[in-house]
Amino acid sequence: MKILVTGGSGYIGSHTCVELLNAGHEITVVDNLSNSSEKSMEAVKKITGKDFTFHKCDILDYEALTKVFDENTFDAVIHFAGLKAVGESCEKPIEYYHNNMTGTFVLLRVMREHGVKNIVFSSSATVYGVPETVPIKEDAPLFTINPYGSTKLMLERVLSDVALADKDMSVVLLRYFNPIGAHESGLIGEDPNGIPNNLLPYVSQVAVGRLPKVNVYGNNYPTPDGTGVRDYIHVTDLALGHLKAVEKKANVPGVHIYNLGTGQGYSVLQIIDAFSKASGKEIPYVIAPNRPGDAAICYADATKAKEDLDWVAERGIEKMCQDAWNWQSKNPEGFK
Ligand code: NAD
Ligand code: WQD
Repeated sequence: MKILVTGGSGYIGSHTCVELLNAGHEITVVDNLSNSSEKSMEAVKKITGKDFTFHKCDILDYEALTKVFDENTFDAVIHFAGLKAVGESCEKPIEYYHNNMTGTFVLLRVMREHGVKNIVFSSSATVYGVPETVPIKEDAPLFTINPYGSTKLMLERVLSDVALADKDMSVVLLRYFNPIGAHESGLIGEDPNGIPNNLLPYVSQVAVGRLPKVNVYGNNYPTPDGTGVRDYIHVTDLALGHLKAVEKKANVPGVHIYNLGTGQGYSVLQIIDAFSKASGKEIPYVIAPNRPGDAAICYADATKAKEDLDWVAERGIEKMCQDAWNWQSKNPEGFK
């Protein structure tokens, strides 16, 4: 297939580019590089030995995006481009709504004008808000508690309405749980700007000596060790989920919704311990106040993706930590 990847130079996008190329698909990438480096694109070419075109292009720019579609014939779009930091979205709601919502509107308009009928969208477990029960199935109640999450939930609705209006349209909504790890080559990985918000990049920057200690946000949750439990998934497994989704659901009209997680929860302290073992480094931590809005426990029921897409996450927590450490120790400053 010929696939346009928006946001393809970012963390999950670059890993998905690798798996799409390895599977023999042709790709074109657009990214405005607002949260990524073009160096990831060179690394993807190195890993796969395959070439593709990268356009430094903002999906808000209708003319620029139209030009990319005019010059190519795409079978499908995998849409990663968006802003993703929960805390920042509370400080800059207008920027988040504009970038994520308007960017997707422009993309959908250009897709319609070029007759492209298949889209795979990066949604998030954030659409489940603070879940009442676990494991979480796709039909669990949906609500959001921050602007970032609201853009995901609203875009799920927008995309579903687009599929309803066009009977040939295939929309796949992939709800990711907590992506971590890196490609096993150590050539691409997560490279957050500034101090990381998410646990794994924070822990790995402590291990590599860039940060002094991990703040563990609360040890009074109703979990075995009192710290928050999440469903961490290797970014390569997540990338392979996109491959299956686009291969199996393109040209199958309708809305297809899948959780992409492992179905297994790990606590913050278990993650620190696993990362310490993988890196051979001591990882100092302190118990800090709970972070507002955090759920105690969140993990997926991923059986729908297994049954429908023939996809399961295969890489365990040791491999996730080893690969994250391999990337972090080889690239202590990320792509900089
Ligand atoms: P990322 O920031 O590494 O990748 C997103 C990419 O989109 C970046 O390269 C950025 O430069 C680009 N981008 C942003 N706005 C753009 C615009 N207007 N035009 C063109 N490019 C633009 O983030 P990621 O972790 O790879 O996430 C990819 C997608 O998955 C995002 O939509 C994110 O919300 C979603 N998601 C991420 C997680 C996670 O924990 N990483 C979890 C669930 C869902
Ligand atoms: C994991 C656990 C924290 C940092 C977020 C978004 C979600 C999705 C994935 C995009 C929690 C604890 C964290 C730290 C800590 N992203 N923690 N110290 O909050 O599950 O999900 O990323 O869609 O929408 O909300 O991930 O990695 O921030 O936190 O103790 O420095 O680690 O309290 O229990 P989260 P996270």
